[in-house]
Amino acid sequence: MKEPTSVRTKDPSPTKKDFIEWSDTLSVGVQEIDDQHKGLAAMVNEMSEGIKGGWGKEARDEVLTRLVEYTKVHFATEESLMSISNYPAINTHKKQHEQLIDMVGAHIKKYDEDPNASNYDLLFFLKRWLVEHIMKDDKAMGEHLIKHSPMKKTGDSFFGRLKRLFGFGNKKMPAPAKA
Ligand SMILES: [Fe+2]
Ligand SMILES: [Fe+2]
Repeated sequence: MKEPTSVRTKDPSPTKKDFIEWSDTLSVGVQEIDDQHKGLAAMVNEMSEGIKGGWGKEARDEVLTRLVEYTKVHFATEESLMSISNYPAINTHKKQHEQLIDMVGAHIKKYDEDPNASNYDLLFFLKRWLVEHIMKDDKAMGEHLIKHSPMKKTGDSFFGRLKRLFGFGNKKMPAPAKA
């Protein structure tokens, strides 16, 4: 007999809003990081759609594997930027990243043991964690990076970036000496 390739894990629709709506309030001010955050939010939303559609084990594993890989790349990006810019709170920030990876790993293990377990707990956890982490920790890091690294600011024009990097156009002309 052919083994079932997927297990239905349809959950009832939750009452809470279960997706991340991107808005400028989530911007940390650094283009590359904002782009990655949008990618993460899109994956969380993909997860939400999957659960609502009663996704199977294969689809869930595929999305969660991609989400974990992308999250690791994203954390590595932030951590290298914090490191090269001597960000003072790097260790606390890294610890939070590690905790997230551990938590997601624990949920995945639980789903492996019980394929019919509801996936909403992980979805809500990810959504809350991501939004809170971006609003507090990533924004603090973003402010530091804007001052201490050559990263492209969100919405920066090429000229705006040069101006910021080299400081031209920022200095006020000295007032003419009074006669
Ligand atoms: Fe972060
Ligand atoms: Fe982040």
